[in-house]
Amino acid sequence: MAPKAIKKIKPTTFLIIFFTINSLFNHFLSAAKHDHDHNHNHHNTFSRNRSSKELGLKREKLSHLHFYFHDVLSGKTPTAVKVAEAQMTNTSTTAFGKVLMMDDPLTVGPERSSKQVGSAQGIYASASQSEVGLLMVYNFVFTEGKYNGSTLSILGRNSVLSPVREMPIVGGSGLFRFARGYAQARTHNLDAKTLDAVVEYNVYVIHF
Ligand SMILES: *[C@@H]1O[C@H](CO)[C@@H](O)[C@H](O)[C@H]1NC(C)=O
Ligand SMILES: *[C@@H]1O[C@H](CO)[C@@H](O)[C@H](O)[C@H]1NC(C)=O
Ligand SMILES: *[C@@H]1O[C@H](CO)[C@@H](O)[C@H](O)[C@H]1NC(C)=O
Repeated sequence: MAPKAIKKIKPTTFLIIFFTINSLFNHFLSAAKHDHDHNHNHHNTFSRNRSSKELGLKREKLSHLHFYFHDVLSGKTPTAVKVAEAQMTNTSTTAFGKVLMMDDPLTVGPERSSKQVGSAQGIYASASQSEVGLLMVYNFVFTEGKYNGSTLSILGRNSVLSPVREMPIVGGSGLFRFARGYAQARTHNLDAKTLDAVVEYNVYVIHF
């Protein structure tokens, strides 16, 4: 069957097929080369001018994210733990020098049982001697839908006793490449005994 079929193909048809395959092959080859050129610098080239289109970046947009942050210090499964403090921390009214590491869940509603959309991972430390003021250095790591795997990085000051605290978003990854913006935090619930807190977040972020 097969040899017969080949015999029936006219030389012109064969040539057309040959050139079609050949040009397709070249197309893929050059596309692959093009891709390579887009994503990597040439060897021994330190810096190049690039357009945002070349990097696949389209329109810049402003997103508003809303979620609740659960900081649990008490119980058998705390989400924030003390990792260091100074000798004088226990003499300071503001716990100056105390450093905690957190991996706090983020949920759509204020209840811990509501849908988790990510976590807040990083460090917070008491950085003020005159009032309770925290240095916050952490990442929002999202797991929800198209945001799964994307992150936002926060570096800011959190005066936890103020009704609204604003912290800058200094960057992001994945869907949040080139991110900048701010996060507003409001304490939703604070357990005076354990200091476990639920914090409402409104995040405004410009990204591509
Ligand atoms: C990049 O663009 C700047 C300003 O347009 C220009 O001065 C510079 O020479 C360019 N650099 C390269 C490596 O093309
Ligand atoms: C604070 O902690 C240190 C140990 O780091 C201890 O020697 C000191 O007695 C403590 N001071 C108070 C006021 O609890
Ligand atoms: C997020 O992505 C990871 C792999 O990168 C996958 O294992 C996980 O199921 C995804 N989660 C959701 C909620 O889509």
